[in-house]
Formats: sequence, structure tokens, C-alpha cells
Amino acid sequence: MTSFLVEPQPRERPLVGHVRVPGDKSIGHRALLFSLLSDTPVRVTGLGDGADNGRSAKAIVQLGARVERVDGAIVIHGAGLQALRAPTAPIDCGNSGTTIRLLTGLVAGQRFATTLFGDESLSKRPMRRVLEPLARMGAVVTGKGEGADVVPPLTIGPIAGRLRGLDYALPVASAQVKTALLLAALSAEGRTRLVEPGPGRDHSERLLRHMGAPLTVNGREVVLDPSGWDGHLAIDAIDVPGDPSSSAFLIAAAILAGCDNVTCADICVNPTRTGFLDVLAAMNALVEPQAERAGGGEPIADLVVTRGAGDALRATEIAGDLTVRAIDEIPILAAVAARARGTTIVRDAEELRVKESDRVATTAAMLRGFGIQVEERPDGLAIEGQPDGALKAAHVHAAGDHRIAMAAAVLALCADGQTRIDDADNVATSYPGFVAAMTRLGATIHVV
Ligand code: S3P
Repeated sequence: MTSFLVEPQPRERPLVGHVRVPGDKSIGHRALLFSLLSDTPVRVTGLGDGADNGRSAKAIVQLGARVERVDGAIVIHGAGLQALRAPTAPIDCGNSGTTIRLLTGLVAGQRFATTLFGDESLSKRPMRRVLEPLARMGAVVTGKGEGADVVPPLTIGPIAGRLRGLDYALPVASAQVKTALLLAALSAEGRTRLVEPGPGRDHSERLLRHMGAPLTVNGREVVLDPSGWDGHLAIDAIDVPGDPSSSAFLIAAAILAGCDNVTCADICVNPTRTGFLDVLAAMNALVEPQAERAGGGEPIADLVVTRGAGDALRATEIAGDLTVRAIDEIPILAAVAARARGTTIVRDAEELRVKESDRVATTAAMLRGFGIQVEERPDGLAIEGQPDGALKAAHVHAAGDHRIAMAAAVLALCADGQTRIDDADNVATSYPGFVAAMTRLGATIHVV
């Protein structure tokens, strides 16, 4: 089991540098899975090296794609929407919730059966949210019943006829559920209309439209109407921009430890993903996107933290749509809140309880390790900031959750001695180069 030993960052040695983070994990999954449905080969560049995207890459091969590496890019020869191949073995989704939920929708209309499974953490994650609306479309999906929910392994299909379109208001703002239903809707008979309760990430809508899917978006409503559509999806190239969720750890490190300009280049700044920048601005740590440009259907910019950006952090409240737009960044924002003056409140974040770990509980436990006072609430946290002096060096158990391990490593820069973070292997699911990037900026982390 991997542990990180993190040294405090001396104030006289501010972090400095220019880093590239891996390609966005959410867009990477979509680039891979949607390329399977393309009638023409797709050249994918910028794909992240995390294990989660690797699961989607292997899955599409099991479903009939051929994947080649060509000069730093991968070229995916898809099967096309109508010609997926029946997998000869169950598909291992590892730790990746996005792989399992998106695949469930993707294969729901097929005449063959698919079995999807994952690791111990994935085997506890709720799947009813996808299975229930898919069943209304006529899909046949079975999973393991556990308590009030259904968990992996899942077996999907076969179905004899076609799926039916669906009119559905999503009970949670989940881009995974929305995408699973849109993928199923591609091969359904009749129109599908989905209404989201919050601003879930919209990478699927952007990419599917680019590929020729008959999809329209009107505010929180997404309609996919295949009547009169020839069923062809195609795209030549997808360039995956940098992952804002990975960049958030480096940005927070620059804010907390002090910096002399830290730049994360070519980051996806899709507004459904930049809630953390709005929270940081509200905490008096302005990080401005620079040189914003359009790239392959997503807005891209460089994120620059300037000297003194974190000198006077103040507490804030994260609630409502902002929580949705910053959902994966709550652990690292909580670490920033630990150094802000006042009490930061996180609300409307019950979804965090069903991520790779119960992130309300694991974030609270991580902060307490550093001597921070935290109140755990059903839907969030109240974090009492400790802006003055060093924090107590901690011994953190990351609970196999990559975002808890990285948030702890960042907060450890403000401690009064060496912090130990156990169970940090899963950092490799999203950001295998995290320690290297932190080291490049000037931090000291030993991996043991
Ligand atoms: C993701 C959607 C979010 C997010 C996850 C990735 C996606 O989950 O937390 O890390 O790629 O669609 P939900 O859709 O379950 O909210």
C-alpha cells in the first residue's frame, strides 16, 4: 500500500512553475466510449494517463473497437452504433463510476448481455439511479441488491426489441445518469427528454452534438429525438483539454503554501466545472483564467495563481448550484477553508456520501487529523478555519480515495512537521503524476 510523506513548505520557498495536468477525466471517458459509436476512426489526443480512463479504453475493445497508438495520440476504430460486439467476458470497471454508469446506458439497447463489475469501492456504489430510468425505457438490468439500493456487478440485456424514449426529471444532478440515458436514447424508438435539477457537467451533450446526434439543449432540458435520423455518429478528432479537477490541487497548493506564480496550462474551463474558481474568489483567492480560447467544443484557458493570492483567505458558503459545479473539488476546497478566517459552510452536498468514499466523512476525518474543528452534517460540513500559525502534522488514512489523499497532501504543506498519508494508491485513478507535479513546483513528498 502506498503512503505519502509530505514535508511542510517553508514560507521562504514559495511554489513556482508551469505544469500540465492530465487530460480531463470526464471528457476522456466520453472521448473513448463515444468513439466506439463512431462510424469513422477518431484520433484522440491529450487523454489522461489515469487508471479510470484506462478502464474505459479496455472496455471499448471488449465491445468491438480497435485501438492503436500513433505518435502520442490514440486512434480508435469504432464499431458504430449498430454494430457493437458482444463481450466474451465480464468488463472490469475498476474504481471508475463513470465507466460503469455510462456503459450501462451504452449497452442497454443491445441484443446481447453484458456484465460489468468493479473493485471493492465501486461494488458499494449506488446504481439504482441509472437502472430505474433505463428499466422504464425497456432495458433489462439486474444487479446485486444491497439495502435500499442496487450495486455492481450488473448484468445488462439482452433485449428482444428496441428501447423506448423517456420523459424524465432526474432526481439528482448527475452527469453520469444523464449521459447513460442519452446513450440509451440513441438507439431507442421515440424521443427522450431529460430535465436536470442542477447544472451537471455537459460534456456529453457537447460531444454528441458534434458527432451528429439529434440532440438539443434548452436550459436544464436535454432532448434527443432520433425520428428521421440515420443513426450515424462520426467525428475525426477529439483533443482532451486539461482536467480542472486535477488542477484544483496544484492551485490550492499554490494558494496555501505561497507561490511566485504557478500556472496550470490548457485547462477545461467549461462553466459546469469551474465552481471551485468561484468559491476561491469568494474566499479572496482570485485565480484568473488567462488566454481563454475554444478547443474542440470546450472552452480552454491557463489558470494562473499569482504571488500573495492566498494571503488573506476568508470563509465562505458553498451551496445550491455552486455545490453541483464544484462537487469533485469539495475535499480540496475544504482544505483551503481550513486556512481561512471564519467558518466555511458546505451545504447540499449529500451526493458526496456516495463518491469513491463517503467524502463528507472522509474529508471531515482528514481535516481533524490536522487539528481542524469540523462539524459533519447530513448534507455537508462546517469547517472552522485556522489561518494563524502552522497546523498539527497529521497521520491521514485516505480511505482509498484519490481526492482525499491529494487534498491531505496539499494541506500538509501548512503543517508543523511531516504528515503521513496512508492508502494513497488510488491517486493513480485520476492523476498518476501528482507527486511529480508537486515536486516540480517545489514541494517535498516522499512516496513509500
Ligand atoms: C462525472 C460526474 C460526476 C462526478 C464524477 C464524474 C462524469 O458524478 O462527480 O467524478 O464524468 O459524468 P455524478 O454524475 O454521479 O454526479
